[in-house]
Amino acid sequence: MVLLAGTVAVAPVDAAEEESPLGRQMDEISKALKSLRKLAKSEERWTASAEQMRNAQAACIKAMALVPDRVEKMPAGTGKAKAVADYKRLLGLSLAALCELEVAFLEEDEKKVDGLLDEVKNVKKEGHEKFEDE
Ligand code: HEM
Repeated sequence: MVLLAGTVAVAPVDAAEEESPLGRQMDEISKALKSLRKLAKSEERWTASAEQMRNAQAACIKAMALVPDRVEKMPAGTGKAKAVADYKRLLGLSLAALCELEVAFLEEDEKKVDGLLDEVKNVKKEGHEKFEDE
């Protein structure tokens, strides 16, 4: 029997480069938010921005069904249950703000948009401080 083990190329797994399922959803939210600056100069700014907010909301909902690595690694118990609940709370706040942003774009309300973008930034900061691995 010929052993083929040595001929199988195994790609090195670089943890820093491998994107997690949660990272992919985060990137979708980020892409949608970043597109807003460019869309601000476009003719269909308001409707296109509202559509981007719907994309971000969909990714946010998917992210809510996942658990960050940092939490997954915690020992089972109340501390972990609280961390999962807090994670969902912050993504819930993000989702609400992204829905309010959609409404603000449909209402073409610049001031409301600015305030809500600040809100998203603050929730993101808290979420990353608590749950993103260094
Ligand atoms: C709503 C605005 C937010 C934006 C635009 C955003 C954006 C991002 C981006 C770009 C990444 C890096 C993804 C990658 O690996 O390529 C990331 C990672 C991450 N974010 Fe967010 N984020 C937001 C909110 C939140 C919130 C509220 C939480 C927690 C409740 C959170 C938790 C995390 C975690 C745990 C990671 C690491 C994921 C992983 O690599 O497995 N984020 N985020």
